Amino acid sequence: MDRFLFPRWVNKFVPLLIGGLLVGAAYGGTIIFVASSPEVINRGYQPEQPVPFSHKLHAGRLKMDCRYCHNTVEKAPHAAIPPTATCGNCHTGPDDKGALPYAAIRTQSVALEPIRESLNTGESVDWIRVHNLPDFVFFNHSAHVTRGVSCVECHGRIDKMERVEVAKPISMSFCLECHRNPESHIRPVDQVTNLEWGMDKTDTQKLEIGHELVKELNIKPSTNCSTCHR
Ligand code: HEC
Ligand code: HEC
Ligand code: HEC
Ligand code: HEC
Ligand code: HEC
Repeated sequence: MDRFLFPRWVNKFVPLLIGGLLVGAAYGGTIIFVASSPEVINRGYQPEQPVPFSHKLHAGRLKMDCRYCHNTVEKAPHAAIPPTATCGNCHTGPDDKGALPYAAIRTQSVALEPIRESLNTGESVDWIRVHNLPDFVFFNHSAHVTRGVSCVECHGRIDKMERVEVAKPISMSFCLECHRNPESHIRPVDQVTNLEWGMDKTDTQKLEIGHELVKELNIKPSTNCSTCHR
């Protein structure tokens, strides 16, 4: 059988053909990539929790700092969910002898029954995760919080939420948008848990502060793939 299945004149079109195929593949791949890339963190997701814990009450009305409960957020990649003992600081009921602790708030509340049970048995409360990145993404809270990126940038006004909800679509483009232009998202580091910071400033004023801090602290978020995929 003849080894040449095509006439010779076809040869000069081969590079073109291969080029065309590559472009087509890349194009098709992009379409599939974009179309099939779900927002792994779905905006609006708001699961019901075993205890109707309200951030609006505790962080908003009572003005408790986020770090009172999420106490690893500045030091570790993950922001710890508080153990029941933290709730117990205020919600512990009377002991065996009927004596009340220093702060005994709503100790008869039905809503707090799972907390009292957890304090008695030592078993933790099964809080349901709200935000959850896929395993192939690396994220680090302390890297952001210690560089002037506020919780509000990614979680919205948690201090106004009766029940936590995913406020922003935390997709790759969401991460990259800020990594490329951090200036409009940076505030003084000691204000990161003050979700109301900047309410009294215009966007131009905030941008100016951001520009200064980016320069002063030499903030350069990386956009290398290996920063978030390692
Ligand atoms: C009194 C303790 C307490 C304080 C103060 C507090 N939180 Fe929480 N937070 C919790 C508990 C408990 C949960 C888990 C239950 C839930 O999702 O409501 C939680 C959940 C969250 C979640 C969702 C976690 C997930 O599963 O994705 C975010 C985000 C969050 N808190 C942010 C904040 C921010 C921001 C502040 C400060 C403005 C704050 N919290 C203050 C106790 C607290
Ligand atoms: C610093 C004190 C303090 C801590 C710590 C605290 N709370 Fe509270 N909690 C309060 C106060 C104050 C109220 C409101 C009481 C009122 O409105 O009369 C309250 C109310 C509540 C209520 C509503 C009870 C009802 O019957 O309406 C729930 C549920 C609750 N807290 C859950 C929690 C959980 C879960 C934690 C731990 C993650 C926690 N709290 C930590 C002070 C605290
Ligand atoms: C740059 C964006 C960003 C900022 C700023 C940020 N978070 Fe988060 N947070 C996330 C992402 C993304 C997740 C999901 C992480 C995962 O699934 O591994 C998350 C998850 C959480 C959780 C669940 C536990 C965990 O670590 O997975 C809590 C609680 C939380 N954040 C609280 C806070 C608090 C409090 C602050 C401010 C002090 C804050 N976050 C600032 C993006 C952010
Ligand atoms: C609102 C702005 C903002 C958003 C949104 C944001 N980042 Fe960042 N990120 C930063 C800044 C600022 C730094 C610190 C850069 C520096 O220290 O020079 C940083 C640093 C990092 C680092 C480097 C940590 C290290 O070990 O050095 C990682 C990883 C990272 N971000 C991942 C993410 C991921 C994943 C997302 C999306 C879920 C995200 N970031 C969203 C602003 C942001
Ligand atoms: C600042 C953090 C960050 C950087 C830098 C980054 N990614 Fe991502 N990437 C993410 C996050 C977060 C997700 C998951 C969210 C999603 O799937 O929408 C993701 C998802 C992906 C996915 C899976 C998409 C899917 O279908 O779910 C691929 C593939 C990917 N990234 C490739 C890359 C490549 C290639 C680079 C370098 C050019 C890169 N990423 C740089 C944060 C980042």
